[in-house]
Amino acid sequence: MEPSTLSSTMSEAAISLREVTRRFRPRNRPAFVAVREVSLDVREGTFLSVVGPSGCGKSTLLAMISGLQPADGGEVLVRGEPVRDVRSDVGFIFQREALLPWKTVLDNVALALVFRGQSPTGARGAALEWIARVGLAGFEHAYPHQLSGGMRKRVSLAQTLVYDPPIVLMDEPFSALDVQTRNLMENELLGLWAENRKTVVFITHDLEEAIALSDQVVVMTASPGRIKASYPIDLPRPRNVTEIRFEPRFAELYEQLWADLRDEVLVSYEQSKSRAVG
Ligand SMILES: Nc1ncnc2c1ncn2[C@@H]1O[C@H](COP(=O)(O)OP(=O)(O)OP(=O)(O)O)[C@@H](O)[C@H]1O
Ligand SMILES: [Mg+2]
Repeated sequence: MEPSTLSSTMSEAAISLREVTRRFRPRNRPAFVAVREVSLDVREGTFLSVVGPSGCGKSTLLAMISGLQPADGGEVLVRGEPVRDVRSDVGFIFQREALLPWKTVLDNVALALVFRGQSPTGARGAALEWIARVGLAGFEHAYPHQLSGGMRKRVSLAQTLVYDPPIVLMDEPFSALDVQTRNLMENELLGLWAENRKTVVFITHDLEEAIALSDQVVVMTASPGRIKASYPIDLPRPRNVTEIRFEPRFAELYEQLWADLRDEVLVSYEQSKSRAVG
């Protein structure tokens, strides 16, 4: 049986975490638990955001789903299969720039396909199509340093979406952008997502961004990161991320989620103060 058929008959979860734990043993500090016994199912086609205070283990969680880091305990399943390595059906958009500075926009996007075995000619055609879709037609031959931060993020999106991974992991992809560009990019992301309903796990510090984009928002505790609460976001779609904030239901959700998140932010702040003292 094809793996995809197998996974869809076994479970409709695209991603399943079963009591996943991750420890670090830094050389100059005592060993500690970064993520503790996290269990979570992300259903296929869902847009799920994870919020939590800085250092609570959000990026670590994403790294374990992507296969970039192993779990020390528990199990990570992607489409029904245990994650042992980086998978080609999982796209990853990093917070930091991951573009090759010596390659043009076109080459940066096309290379994502060439690395996955596509012919350079086919890759070029698909890359041109995606560059246009993310609004960068005319910039195919520009180099990353000739683009604004928002434009570089568009290239990163094209670079990941061009190979059509059914699962996309995004680690604070828009946090470095100004508010206006960020809202534009969020709306574009929602538009692209609505076209083909990928499973998205989106990490953010920003509760408003999480609510505006998602079907579900998970709040993590201060370190060691556990899941504190999970909220379904029952706002109608299609959404405009700027306008949805004026909905009364948005304000209600924000208030509930913030009550959970605020306590964890305070705990995290106390932790960082005592670390600074000790
Ligand atoms: N490779 C590593 N070695 C040692 N400690 C690590 C490593 N990676 C992360 N950590 C620690 O694990 C904890 C969780 O880190 P992580 O990057 O997952 O947090 P985060 O929630 O993504 O934070 P932020 O919101 O600031 O990005 C932090 O205390 C961090 O210092
Ligand atoms: Mg992080």
